[in-house]
Amino acid sequence: MKITVISYSLTGNNEALAAKLASEFSAEHIKIVPVIPRTFGMIALDMLFNRVPKINLSVKHIAANNFIIFVAPVWMGKIASPLRSCFEELKKHQHQYAFVSISGGADGSNPKLESELEKKLGKKPAIVLDYHIADLLPSEPKPTRDDTSAYRLTEENTLAITSQTVQNIQERLAN
Ligand SMILES: Cc1cc2nc3c(=O)[nH]c(=O)nc-3n(C[C@H](O)[C@H](O)[C@H](O)COP(=O)(O)O)c2cc1C
Repeated sequence: MKITVISYSLTGNNEALAAKLASEFSAEHIKIVPVIPRTFGMIALDMLFNRVPKINLSVKHIAANNFIIFVAPVWMGKIASPLRSCFEELKKHQHQYAFVSISGGADGSNPKLESELEKKLGKKPAIVLDYHIADLLPSEPKPTRDDTSAYRLTEENTLAITSQTVQNIQERLAN
């Protein structure tokens, strides 16, 4: 099955993961760039008002039988807004897909990702993998939002998360 990775990243963590995943799967890697780069203020407005930021490209060309791996951060419990325009374009195609994120996790898990994906793409994800930076840091003192936001994945972190993700997705595709 042909795999396409579609990613967005504000500060580089999800970009590092997406690049390694694309390389491991020999996949096409499509990088989303919002026409207007997101600031913290814009992120809050995107999330509160469900805005769909304009982006640099269209994903309409992706064949319906491709498996798509979306990789992006979680913001305020939701998937980063720059992916929304792709979700709108892809909704009618009903691709099989996975969502992968390295998010902060300072406030615990992000339980609404799966339902958000199903609503926006009209189909359940094959798998959702939300890794947390908080789990990469010492547990005492408890990592704060500032700690997780400031953290940048090391090469070692990226390789470990990539290999876990490849294994999980391969198992899911085999079933
Ligand atoms: C405005 C904002 C809101 C965030 N909200 C969440 C959240 O709700 N849950 C979470 O786990 N992480 C949250 N994070 C942390 C990011 O998901 C995390 O830092 C991620 O690794 C950043 O990815 P990037 O480097 O690819 O941009 C938030 C970060 C920002 C900037």
